[in-house]
Amino acid sequence: MKDTDTHEPDRLLDHEYDGICEYDNPLPGWWVWLFVATVAFSAGYYAWYQLGPGPTIIAQYEAEVREAAEHQAPAGAVAATEDALKRLQRDTTVMAGARETFATRCAACHGPEGQGLIGPNLVDEFWLHGGTLTTILRTVAEGVPDKGMVPWKGQLTPAELEAIAAYIGTLRGTNPPNPKPPQGAKVTGA
Ligand code: HEC
Repeated sequence: MKDTDTHEPDRLLDHEYDGICEYDNPLPGWWVWLFVATVAFSAGYYAWYQLGPGPTIIAQYEAEVREAAEHQAPAGAVAATEDALKRLQRDTTVMAGARETFATRCAACHGPEGQGLIGPNLVDEFWLHGGTLTTILRTVAEGVPDKGMVPWKGQLTPAELEAIAAYIGTLRGTNPPNPKPPQGAKVTGA
C-alpha cells in the first residue's frame, strides 16, 4: 500500500507494483562528482603509465636503488678529483690527521712507513690497482676483499678516506728501509 505519510512524499516515483513503490533517492552531488573525478583520474593514470611515457614500477624501483646506492657510498670517494686530493696534500693539519689514521688502521698490514708487510708497499711506483690519487681513493674505499684489503668506506668518513688517499700519495719515493718488493704495474707521473 502506498504510504502517503512518508516524510519524503515528493521523492516517491510514480510507478507501483502490487503496492510496492520506489523512492527516488539520488546520491549527493559531491559524491557523484567525486566518483566521476576518480574515473577520469584512472583513465589519465592508465594512459600515462601504461600507454604513455610514465615510468614503469620496475624503472622507478631501479632508480630508487641507484639513488640509495649513491647515498651509501661516501660521496667523495669516487667524486673527488685528482686536483682536490693534491690540494689536501698541502694541508698540513689534514696530513697530520691522515698520518695518525694510517698508523692505527693501515700500518699493521702496510708497515708503519708504508714499506709493505702483508699488504704491498705504498712507496714505489708500482701499483696493483692503480696509482693515481683517485684510484687509490677508490681502492681504499672499496677494498680488495678477496685479497685481504679491507673496504674502509664504512669505517672511515668520506673526509678521512680522501685524506688517507692523499697521504698515501705523499709516501711515494720516501724509500723506507726494508721495502716489500714492487708488485703490480709501473705508474709514472701520477
Ligand atoms: C688486513 C690487512 C690490511 C689493512 C689493515 C689495510 N690493507 Fe691495504 N691492502 C692489503 C692487501 C693484502 C692489499 C693487496 C690487495 C691485492 O693483492 O690486490 C692491499 C692493498 C692496498 C692498496 C692498493 C695497492 C696497490 O698496489 O694497488 C692501497 C692503496 C691500500 N691497500 C691502502 C690501505 C690503507 C689506506 C689502509 C688503511 C686505511 C689499508 N690499506 C689497510 C691489506 C691491508
